Amino acid sequence: MLRTAVNGLKSGDINAVSLYTHDGIELVKGKAEISTGIIDRLKRFNISFIYKKDNSINISMLYDRNIIAGLHKVLSCFIESNGNNAEILKRYNNEEVKEFLRVNNEFGTGIAYGHIMRFYAEKMAEMLGGRKNVIYDFVDYRRKDNYLIFHMINTCCMCMAAAANMGLDKETIIDAGIGTMLYDFKMKTMPFSYKNSALNKEESEKVKEHTVLGYEYLRSVYGIPSRSSAIAVQHHERHDGSGYPKNLSGNEILLLSRIAAVCDVYDSMTSERQHRAAYNPEDAWDYIRTNSGVIFDPEAAAAFLKTVPRFMPGDIVELACGKHAVVSENYPEKPENPDIILIEKTGENDIIVLKIEKKSEKVAAEGGFQIVRTTGKIR
Ligand SMILES: [Fe+2]
Repeated sequence: MLRTAVNGLKSGDINAVSLYTHDGIELVKGKAEISTGIIDRLKRFNISFIYKKDNSINISMLYDRNIIAGLHKVLSCFIESNGNNAEILKRYNNEEVKEFLRVNNEFGTGIAYGHIMRFYAEKMAEMLGGRKNVIYDFVDYRRKDNYLIFHMINTCCMCMAAAANMGLDKETIIDAGIGTMLYDFKMKTMPFSYKNSALNKEESEKVKEHTVLGYEYLRSVYGIPSRSSAIAVQHHERHDGSGYPKNLSGNEILLLSRIAAVCDVYDSMTSERQHRAAYNPEDAWDYIRTNSGVIFDPEAAAAFLKTVPRFMPGDIVELACGKHAVVSENYPEKPENPDIILIEKTGENDIIVLKIEKKSEKVAAEGGFQIVRTTGKIR
């Protein structure tokens, strides 16, 4: 499947991955045929790209889309009702979760959220299957006008995968998931952080409070593990002590918070925001690598760089020989050397596939197929 700009979609294209709104309502079904009505709907919802069916591009879909949609529903309910447990039980309608709560929630509704987050984190950990070589090369769609929920879920997906690649045990991976589902949610009380221009000094100081406020709130909701809640207060701490709120450094910052810090920055950089365009994945990846051992914990950065590859399937890249190619598949053991498909552009959105190359070192050396840089946005 291929990441495709909504502007480049044509009637008759087949959608490959189901799309949801921030609150988990299905916007376009997987396998749906694209019509002009669907294209209009995507534009109305401010969605800039989707994945369309394309057999030459392979993406690791680590997590089940139904689970991700369920997570969207729970988080939007949590944020809108300010963590009201009665509200989630009233509004939530997933039979599997209800059964889970019936078995696990002996003490009534007071601990519903902790259990529901755990339900989703356990499902996602099961999908990782105890493997140490998972790759997350799926750029989930994001909406700049509903950034927060998409941002936390994307960060959660990457953080759990990176934790798995570090060989951490299942309970730790689950706690990483529970923490990153919620860690930034107090940003909702900082509306000026989403304004169209840079923050002034007073606003920059104020926005830092989302870390402590988030932690205090999560600690008061029974069922959220302490190392999960700690991600809320520590995800802006930096390896060299330059972060906030406490200027912690090195191992003073808990391991899960160190991993979350890397994923948080990467996802924020690759998201389109009200005040700036998105960085391309390659630039964000290079930023993490450059700052490994500086502002990011080297162990966490290394796990991230192994989990999330430098180039995403569908990226158009320029090669050392001057030709262009589309990234077609990534491998965990070589996050900087994906397979590519040589292409020739014939128009704004049209390309001719020339040759599929397994980008082995030999082929790369002979053909000058080393990737120099990403040349453009998705087509
Ligand atoms: Fe934050």
